[in-house]
Amino acid sequence: MKHWRIDDVRWDQFDPAKLDPSIIALVKSAAMVERNGTDYGTYLKRVFHDDPAFKDAADLWSVEEIQHGDALGRWAMLADPSWDYQAAFQRYKDGYELPLLTADSSVRGSRTGELIARCIVESGTSSYYSALADATEEPVLKQVCKLIAADEFRHFKLFYDHMKRYLAREQLFFLQRLRIAASRIGESEDDELAFAFHCANTQPGAPYDHQASLADYMTTVLPMCRFHHIERGMGMVFKAVGLPPRGRLADMSAKLAWTLLQRRGRKFAAERTPLAQAA
Ligand SMILES: [Fe+2]
Ligand SMILES: [Fe+2]
Repeated sequence: MKHWRIDDVRWDQFDPAKLDPSIIALVKSAAMVERNGTDYGTYLKRVFHDDPAFKDAADLWSVEEIQHGDALGRWAMLADPSWDYQAAFQRYKDGYELPLLTADSSVRGSRTGELIARCIVESGTSSYYSALADATEEPVLKQVCKLIAADEFRHFKLFYDHMKRYLAREQLFFLQRLRIAASRIGESEDDELAFAFHCANTQPGAPYDHQASLADYMTTVLPMCRFHHIERGMGMVFKAVGLPPRGRLADMSAKLAWTLLQRRGRKFAAERTPLAQAA
């Protein structure tokens, strides 16, 4: 059972006076990626084909991710009535295919590795929606983001619990776990997010430039992040790779990640193509 339904949201409290164009752009693009949960669910069920308990959990997970997309899409159409969620998502689907769509086994080399990668994604999404909920003053979006963030924290726990089960069988070394986590974090600069930002925020037919769209996305999302969002996300990453989520090493890593993110933000800002030009 899902933990909430779209109709539970107090849509009647929508306040157009509290909108922020940057946040609308981020919500539109997040709706694309979330709605793509169907394909990822199909892949997960193929990878874990002989594990009925996990397949059932993956089914519910996928339904929840799709609901995230639909709730964000509905809010974005309230905020910008000229925007068409379904049309934008179709454009995203037509132009982007998950690289793992045809794989029969995990692209991470093992089931434990797959579940570590899923933990990393859920660390990122839980931090992302917590940051969006803190950043927006629009009451409906705040509610939606809090509901989604709670799901993402539960998703982390779901994948973490299954990961521990598989780790006992597959026994991945710490460095293997660390390498999988680092490579999944690095993939945040691949097409999945940049192309979603492009499809959600430019007119149909606008040419796609990966680097420009990534710069547009990063320079929109990074100012919204606060240190405590990164700190919490880093604690979850630590937990996923088998390190203590709190303590000196976690603190130092969160500070380092924060510094690197700031530096990355400045680099992207220097090469940014304004949305108005890209559209
Ligand atoms: Fe989600
Ligand atoms: Fe999730």
